[in-house]
Amino acid sequence: MSLERVLSYLEQNRERHVAQLCDFLRIPSISSVSAHKEDVRRAARFCADELRDLGLRVEISEPADGNPLVYAETEQRDGRPTLLVYGHYDVQPVDPLDLWRTPPFEPRVEDDVVYARGATDDKGQLYAHFKALEAYVKQGLQPPVNLKFIIEGEEECGGHSVYAYTEANAGKLACDAVAVSDTSLYDERTPALTYSLRGLAYFEILVSGPKADLHSGSYGGGVQNPAHALCDIIARLKDADGRVRVPGFYDDVLDLDAAEREAFRSLDFSEKAFLADTGSPAAWGEKGYTTLERMWGRPTCDVNGLWSGYSGEGAKTIIPALAGAKVSTRLVPQQDPHRIAAAFEAYVRSIAPAGVRVDVKTLHTAQPVLIERDSPWMKAGLRALELGFGAKPVFIREGGSIPIVTTFQNCLRVPVLLLGFGLATDNAHSPNEKFNLASYRNGARAVVHLWQEARRPV
Ligand code: BES
Ligand code: ZN
Repeated sequence: MSLERVLSYLEQNRERHVAQLCDFLRIPSISSVSAHKEDVRRAARFCADELRDLGLRVEISEPADGNPLVYAETEQRDGRPTLLVYGHYDVQPVDPLDLWRTPPFEPRVEDDVVYARGATDDKGQLYAHFKALEAYVKQGLQPPVNLKFIIEGEEECGGHSVYAYTEANAGKLACDAVAVSDTSLYDERTPALTYSLRGLAYFEILVSGPKADLHSGSYGGGVQNPAHALCDIIARLKDADGRVRVPGFYDDVLDLDAAEREAFRSLDFSEKAFLADTGSPAAWGEKGYTTLERMWGRPTCDVNGLWSGYSGEGAKTIIPALAGAKVSTRLVPQQDPHRIAAAFEAYVRSIAPAGVRVDVKTLHTAQPVLIERDSPWMKAGLRALELGFGAKPVFIREGGSIPIVTTFQNCLRVPVLLLGFGLATDNAHSPNEKFNLASYRNGARAVVHLWQEARRPV
């Protein structure tokens, strides 16, 4: 049976596959740091070479002001469904570097876990698709579906190349469904199909006052302090019940329905384990909702970074000239990030304290995502996860964002399967990012099963 041969190939080659994944992880493809431009290119070439070696037709396109996009396709045969696989080869910056137990680009495998920047987000997850394909090709077998790959390098820096590419090449990317592995399992034992992602509107607020730092003794009490002014603004973003105070913020929110809330409640969620995982002393957020509801199905607002004045050793007596913050709002289905951005900017300007200049600008946005759960492709996804992981999958939402999903939905008009193999506790975007190799192996098996399941009429 060819399926058994494919699965046993994966099993027999697991050591080598992990070693090759480590080669991928060694490339410091940090897309938001321009000094890594060449590394970003190398990661694109790594993906291209991998797929070319498997006999795919591969194209690398280099947008004028973006990072290379890798497109690849197997031989497209009539009468088979076509699946487009999306992934990203770029990774987040590594700071704070001193909190990494071992260097971020020197992958370490310990107790069946690989530690490296990009291990879970998204190199390791994407690699499961490559190796599923290798298992067919190296056994002299055709995969049961026509495959197309689109792999980008600007996901982590808010770049737009892949959107423009998708819009311009909708015919070339035409498919019956898209598969994305860039989300999470529900927990270590429970695979999950994600049917909703939150959207995003991300801002920078800059507050300026005096033309240079002032002596806080000579001038204290004489002028407005930009750091105080910024804190005032931030303090007014949310009320004591955790609700965002931007006027109109909740106008378009699609409420969680009773069945969804019940489905969330029936998941095995332990507040105690959640606190242990996060290290926070208590859960907190919008009143009237459970922790899962708040993270998956309610919009929110967070300070992502804050800077001003002196933060070195000891004391320095100044009134800082400048204060700044990066603030994001996470949005849920039916909220429009552009509308929220306009409302947010107007609100921040309206609460700007006297005596300072306040600039607020939107850095980037992502649309929230909602995917129809009752479709043949989603059923195929559930069966594939069950077979790959040997456990019943659940439907979940995710709090994070994958902006390209909306572009796929709008341009290709096909279902998008969010088939994630990571864990919320994998330290994505944080020091000591990791990926369970068991999830990687089960993920590759689930991909094989998805292709088998998709072969049936869908
Ligand atoms: N893989 C994540 C998306 C994600 C986050 C899925 C959390 C599941 C749980 C993706 O690479 C990511 O980090 N996206 C950014 C998007 C932003 C830069 C527009 C995010 O959510 O912050
Ligand atoms: Zn990702």
